[in-house]
Amino acid sequence: MRVLLVGSGGREHALAACLSRSPELEVLFIAPGNPGMVPLGTLVPIAADDVEALVAFAKEQKIDLVVPGPEAPLVAGLSDLCVSEGIACAGPSQAASALEGSKSFTKDVADAAGIPTARWERFEEAEPALAFVRRRGAPIVIKADGLAAGKGVIVAQTLEEAEAAIIDILTDRSFGEAGASIVIEECLVGQEVSLFAFCSDGEAVLIGAARDHKRIGEGDTGPNTGGMGAISPPPHFGRDAQEQALDIMVRPMLAEMVRRGTPFRGIIFAGLMLTKSGPKLIEYNVRFGDPEAQALLIRLESDLLPTLKALAEGQLAKASICFTDEASVSVVLAAKGYPGTPVKGGAIRGIARAEAVPGVSVFQAGTALQNNSLVASGGRVLTVCAKAATPAEARARAYEGVAAIEWADGIFRRDIGL
Ligand code: AMP
Ligand code: GLY
Repeated sequence: MRVLLVGSGGREHALAACLSRSPELEVLFIAPGNPGMVPLGTLVPIAADDVEALVAFAKEQKIDLVVPGPEAPLVAGLSDLCVSEGIACAGPSQAASALEGSKSFTKDVADAAGIPTARWERFEEAEPALAFVRRRGAPIVIKADGLAAGKGVIVAQTLEEAEAAIIDILTDRSFGEAGASIVIEECLVGQEVSLFAFCSDGEAVLIGAARDHKRIGEGDTGPNTGGMGAISPPPHFGRDAQEQALDIMVRPMLAEMVRRGTPFRGIIFAGLMLTKSGPKLIEYNVRFGDPEAQALLIRLESDLLPTLKALAEGQLAKASICFTDEASVSVVLAAKGYPGTPVKGGAIRGIARAEAVPGVSVFQAGTALQNNSLVASGGRVLTVCAKAATPAEARARAYEGVAAIEWADGIFRRDIGL
């Protein structure tokens, strides 16, 4: 099979590693990719969100399957354009990507499908929104309806914070059109977990669950990031609980999407809050998480390529998918300054030594080659990932891998999985 993988982060590096092992792979192109992926495929200098250029390339190269990593090309209609050109795409249509692109769409679908979620209201005007939060009081959650680069959710602990968020989003339009409307919802309390599944129309096959570590600082302090580490499985959320959650949180959504004439084919990422009254849906993403994908995919034993092809063709029931029972831990190394302005250009060494630790894989993200040596070029730079029989062992291996990396500007959390 001729495959085009889209993206350039650690998630896509992990996907490329799985795809490149497939006996069914003929050629792997990666757009735009990163230096870590050079041994796995051919890098193509097309941006991940340049949907038209991606599809033109796929046509020219007679690609059999497009595998999108991030959400931006999906929300921009990559899958639809592929399908119109007769190319299979392992990601949802633009209409189905609204599950990530619009918070109010997701809440509507959840309500229609009977999926437990926080009570909510949608507003387009500041005055009624302000009156609503004054009636409800804090804590309360304010969300820009559209995609806001992970910054559009404000969990307001006080009424003042809630009011400021409403004015910021609706009146001052600090997220532009993504904030043309807002969702205000009840604040859920509990532990968060992320559930992942391969989905195709009405079918869902469990991938696994993970816990992300979103804050930059140890002990969950400081600003939010794209994710500083992940563990899989999360404590007290094993295989049975995951299967049960798939029945409650994902399968009814898939049926509702089929009923609406916009079936979902892709990877679903359901963000759940484990509350005292059971799991509740926080949000869906229409793709793998990063760094969750790295922690999940290093445990994949079966061939990813036929699974993604089957998913794209609505034949998921025929795919055989197998993960090891091991635990895994992924630790992100970011550049000093992240999530603000990262320090770039520092030399990175020791990846091979890290990967010599049993069970360890290192995935690259914000890296570049300068005079043939590897340097940092972005915020999140490496994910050091380990699997082992127990969570403690996986954690020890991951940090042994981290210790082998030599990079003066690297920062990481020491408490992933503690
Ligand atoms: P994002 O991934 O940017 O959409 O941010 C969502 C984050 O906001 C989640 O990971 C939760 O930590 C938090 N969050 C969202 N909705 C709620 C809610 N209803 N109650 C409590 N926390 C929430
Ligand atoms: N790590 C969270 C995300 O990928 O959205």
